[in-house]
Amino acid sequence: MQLFKDIVLLLTFILVLLMFATVFVSFFMAKVPFVPTRKKILPLLEPHLKDRQGQLMLDIGCGDGKVLFWAEKKLGLKGRGFEISPLPYLLSIVSRYLKSSSVELRFANFFKQNLQDANLIFCYLFPELVEKAYDQAKKQCKPGTLFICNTFRPKQLEPVKIISDEKNKPYFYIYQL
Ligand SMILES: C[S@@+](CC[C@H](N)C(=O)[O-])C[C@H]1O[C@@H](n2cnc3c(N)ncnc32)[C@H](O)[C@@H]1O
Repeated sequence: MQLFKDIVLLLTFILVLLMFATVFVSFFMAKVPFVPTRKKILPLLEPHLKDRQGQLMLDIGCGDGKVLFWAEKKLGLKGRGFEISPLPYLLSIVSRYLKSSSVELRFANFFKQNLQDANLIFCYLFPELVEKAYDQAKKQCKPGTLFICNTFRPKQLEPVKIISDEKNKPYFYIYQL
């Protein structure tokens, strides 16, 4: 019984530590909190990303990996995610295991990675970070690579597509690098 109590205490301690680390990283390093893309809006992307089986999608700031798992299952895409915050990263690892997914997950700052392998890049980040990420992708990626933004986008650039829901509320902005 004492051993059980000790294990619960240790796990609680680790969880609290991870939560503190996540809050710290969110405020001081990521500068954007973990807010996952809503699952019900993902199917809006489906008709626009058909016939891309086997291509590589990066989620730069992948959170719990939801978008990549969805893209793997529904679109047959390969996935690679970068996440800088410990708790969302841990969630993504557990999720990958439970889903038996092949998505690659890296505990890393995407600004320090090379994005050149991507065929598609997905991001859900605040505007100043999206603009910085767009410039990075433009420098590193092949021409024609899709850059897909959820909600926030590089304001000064015209997307090739704006994807809205049935009430005409825009959610996704697609750019071609
Ligand atoms: C709004 S959430 C979006 C999560 C996921 N992409 C989705 O759409 O469900 C943004 C995530 O990006 C992560 N992030 C922010 N800056 C990052 C960076 N430089 N490198 C890696 N991850 C970053 C944050 O920790 C957060 O989990």
